[in-house]
Amino acid sequence: MNVLRSVAEIRAAVADAKAAGEEVGLVPTMGALHEGHLSLIRAARAESGLVIVSLFVNPTQFGAHEDLDAYPRDQERDARLAREAGADILFAPPVSEVYPDGFATTIHVTGVTDVLCGAVRGPGHFDGVATVVAKLFGMVAPDSAYFGQKDAQQVVVVRRLVRDLNMPVRVVACPIVREPDGLAMSSRNAYLDEASRRRATALNRALDTADALVRSGERRAAPVIAAARGVLAAAGLDPEYIELRDAEDLSAREDVGDRALLAISARVGAARLIDNRILEGDHRCDASC
Ligand code: PAJ
Repeated sequence: MNVLRSVAEIRAAVADAKAAGEEVGLVPTMGALHEGHLSLIRAARAESGLVIVSLFVNPTQFGAHEDLDAYPRDQERDARLAREAGADILFAPPVSEVYPDGFATTIHVTGVTDVLCGAVRGPGHFDGVATVVAKLFGMVAPDSAYFGQKDAQQVVVVRRLVRDLNMPVRVVACPIVREPDGLAMSSRNAYLDEASRRRATALNRALDTADALVRSGERRAAPVIAAARGVLAAAGLDPEYIELRDAEDLSAREDVGDRALLAISARVGAARLIDNRILEGDHRCDASC
């Protein structure tokens, strides 16, 4: 696996692969790789001739009081894990390569960024994400790009960006990877002390409870959210948001209908954690029927 740092080098590598008729898959990351990231790399490996993992802790998507400086960084470990998961290239540009002096362009995706994490973190977060993802697509020109459903709103924003700007990239969303006790894997789980780590499992349990209620026939948002909120409260967690939204456009939903996204954000100890579940209201029958 090669580690490349400049746009010129990555362009040359991609040009060679495309000339050889290979499909190029990109997995954008901020490093501190865990099984969630590795599942994306494996998905890219299964479908691409050239697999590129980008590693860039993007300063523009962090708010002034967020954890940019504290964000875990260990490039040697990340390089090893990326290679073992099947990456061909680790693209790890310095900040000056991504945002050279005089950089003046920001991409703002309207609407879908106003809610959930966009509302809590402010508009700057998804502006930073949209801008850096557009830049990575411009630098790498991948055929496919792989994102985790863990960041469900990010997937919606990226799909909208790609559609609106006619980017020739296939966006692939991969399932959430969890710890054995259900906690969604996240680089930010490293901020949890032992007690917080235990309480953090309440997010997934809240989603399980909501899911079970829907499977038992409930479709209305209010009781589903109340049940999930009860699980969080029992663990002493007061969520920043817990909302039922359309999975494709993030509009508010009063009802699960066939399918809806239940999204949660909560501060647990020193970490801000997010988790979500697609609730499906159109089950014909499951084991309990
Ligand atoms: P980062 O938080 O490093 O995540 C990189 C990718 O891994 C994202 O698509 C994220 O959804 C996915 N991911 C994280 N945890 C996961 C889990 N438990 N299961 C499945 N996928 C998981 O998201 C970002 O970086 C940045 O915003 C980025 C897109 C790289 C732009 O800077």
